[in-house]
Amino acid sequence: MDSAIPKPNIKKLTTQLLKEDISDEESITIINEIHGYFNEITSISGYDMEFKHLAAVPTASGMALSLNHAAQCLLDYKRTSKFLRGIVKAIKDIQKGKPNETVNIFYAGCGPYAPFINLVAPLFDQSEVQFSVLEINKDSLDFAKKLITELGLSDYIKEYYLADAVTFTIPNPDTFHILYSETLDALLFRESYVPILANMLPQLSSDVTLIPTNVLLKVDVISNNINDASSDITTQTIFDTREAIASIEIELPQELPSKEVIFDATKNNESIIIDTEVHIYEHLRLTRGESSLTIPYEIALENPLPYQSMSFAYQLKPQVGLKYEFNKKD
Ligand SMILES: C[S@@+](CC[C@H](N)C(=O)[O-])C[C@H]1O[C@@H](n2cnc3c(N)ncnc32)[C@H](O)[C@@H]1O
Repeated sequence: MDSAIPKPNIKKLTTQLLKEDISDEESITIINEIHGYFNEITSISGYDMEFKHLAAVPTASGMALSLNHAAQCLLDYKRTSKFLRGIVKAIKDIQKGKPNETVNIFYAGCGPYAPFINLVAPLFDQSEVQFSVLEINKDSLDFAKKLITELGLSDYIKEYYLADAVTFTIPNPDTFHILYSETLDALLFRESYVPILANMLPQLSSDVTLIPTNVLLKVDVISNNINDASSDITTQTIFDTREAIASIEIELPQELPSKEVIFDATKNNESIIIDTEVHIYEHLRLTRGESSLTIPYEIALENPLPYQSMSFAYQLKPQVGLKYEFNKKD
C-alpha cells in the first residue's frame, strides 16, 4: 500500500527509545513519529468520532476500553516507554536462562496498534520471539493484523484469537514464557486486568513472566497533628492484585478481600489519596501521575471526622472496581 508517510525504521526508533539516557522530549518525538505512521496505515488516530470506535465492549467481568482509547494508550508516553523497556528486558532475561528456546508471548488485549508486537518484534529474529495475540474488539484485532502485515512482521505471529480473555482457554499453555496484558485503568477501574489474570495465570506454567507483574492500590491518609499543626502522611496497601488472585479458590467471587484503614483519632484527618502503583517488570514502575493509569484519586474528609475507619473491597461482579465505605464511630 502507498502511504504518504514513508515507513519508519521501527527498529532504529525503538532502539533509541530504549537508551538509558533518553530525555522525555526525545521519547515523545519518537512515539509521535511512530503514531503518525500507525495512524496512516490503520486510519485510526485515537481521536476520530466514529461511534463504534468510541464504545467500550463488555467482557465476562469488566469492560474493554474502546478502540479509540486503546489507540491513545500509545501516546501515554511514560507508559509506552516503560512497558517497552520491561518487555524487552523480560525477553532478554528469558533468553539468558533458556538460550536455545523461542520466547513465546501471549498478548491479551492488543488494541488496534499492537504496539508491543510492532515495536518489539523488529529487535529480535522471528526464531527468537513468537506472539499469540488475543483481542475482544474485532475492529481492533483487524487493524492490528493490518499493521503487523504492513510492517512485515506476520512471521512473528503464531495465532490470532478474537475472544474474551476473562473466559478464554489458552491452547498449549505450558509453551508460554510471558503473559502480557495491559488491560488497566487507574484504580483498576472497570477494565478486566484482575479477572483476566484470575482466568489466565492458573492455566500457565508457574514460572511464567507476567507484564505488568502486579498492580497495587495504596491509600495515603493525610492528617494534621492537633498540637503543633505539622502534617503526617501514612501509607497502606489496600489491594495487591497478585495476593488477591492467589486467594481465589475455584470460581471468581463477587469481590476480593477487603482491607480497613483505621483513622488516628488523635489527629485531624484531612483527606485520603488512593494511588495505583503499576509494577511493570523488576524495578520498572509507573508511579503517581506518570501515566493515565496512575492518576491519584483524592477524597476530602469531614472535620471533625465522624468515622473510625474506611473499608475497601475490590468488586468483580456485577461491575469491576474498587468499593469503599466509611465505618461510623461506636
Ligand atoms: C489499554 S488497551 C492497551 C492496548 C495496547 N496493548 C497497548 O498497550 O497500547 C487494552 C486492550 O485490551 C482489550 N481488552 C480489554 N479487556 C479484554 C478482554 N477481556 N479480552 C480481550 N481483550 C480485552 C481492549 O479491547 C483494548 O484493546
